[in-house]
Amino acid sequence: MLKIKRIGKKIFYFDSIDSTNEFVKSLVVGDEGEVDGAIVIANEQTKGKGRLKRRWLSGRGGIYISLVLRQRDVRNVSVLNVLSALPVAKSIKNLGLDCTIKWPNDFIIKGKKVGGILGELVSSGEKSYAIIGIGLNTNIDISRFPGEFRNSTTSIKKELGTDISNNKLIEDLLKEYESFFAEYEKGEYQELLKKYKELSVTLGKQVVVKCTDKTIEGLALDILTDGSLLVKAGAEEKKVLEGDVVECRALS
Ligand code: BTN
Repeated sequence: MLKIKRIGKKIFYFDSIDSTNEFVKSLVVGDEGEVDGAIVIANEQTKGKGRLKRRWLSGRGGIYISLVLRQRDVRNVSVLNVLSALPVAKSIKNLGLDCTIKWPNDFIIKGKKVGGILGELVSSGEKSYAIIGIGLNTNIDISRFPGEFRNSTTSIKKELGTDISNNKLIEDLLKEYESFFAEYEKGEYQELLKKYKELSVTLGKQVVVKCTDKTIEGLALDILTDGSLLVKAGAEEKKVLEGDVVECRALS
């Protein structure tokens, strides 16, 4: 049974919805009362959104969930976005899988993506909320994915060779998130960043990061307290706040 402190005070459950993140936005701007701690869960999404304006394939069998967290200081949202990968990775590891994190918040098993997070910020009046939208390929048959995704993606079903209970994983994930958030609220970012870095497949690698307006190539040096990736590109050190690591190679 889920012990609720902060997360899961209100639970909205849908069999099918366009996007759980979009639903949160309608809650925040509508007159829904306090939505801090609310969660939205769907069995499928018809317009699932990925990072950098990509789509997120959201057929039945996967997990699609958005958590809503009131933010007193919106400057913390970018680090929250990155660190939010920790409790999710932990819950995947609890299934016995070797899950790592590709900056900022992609979940990787044996080099392939099994899920990701779309973090968004939404405000209404004086209140601001972080939306942590988590998508996981759990009981998904990857061979049915379009060709462009098939080679780079995996599912928990594929890795374990069996279906899992989405409900149990969601329960575990929310439990992990509850303890993560207690630590996060105390402002203990250094400790959380340390744990994040231990699971990072990006740090210490030669990376190519695609940003909206440019591509940065270099050595991934560090993840900073605002969640940005520090890349040594030639003689310069560049701070990347948003982007997609499209290549990640060990130094030869
Ligand atoms: C990524 O591009 O890696 C992020 C994917 C995030 C998908 C989740 S599914 C739940 C939530 N609702 C959405 O429309 N997107 C996020």
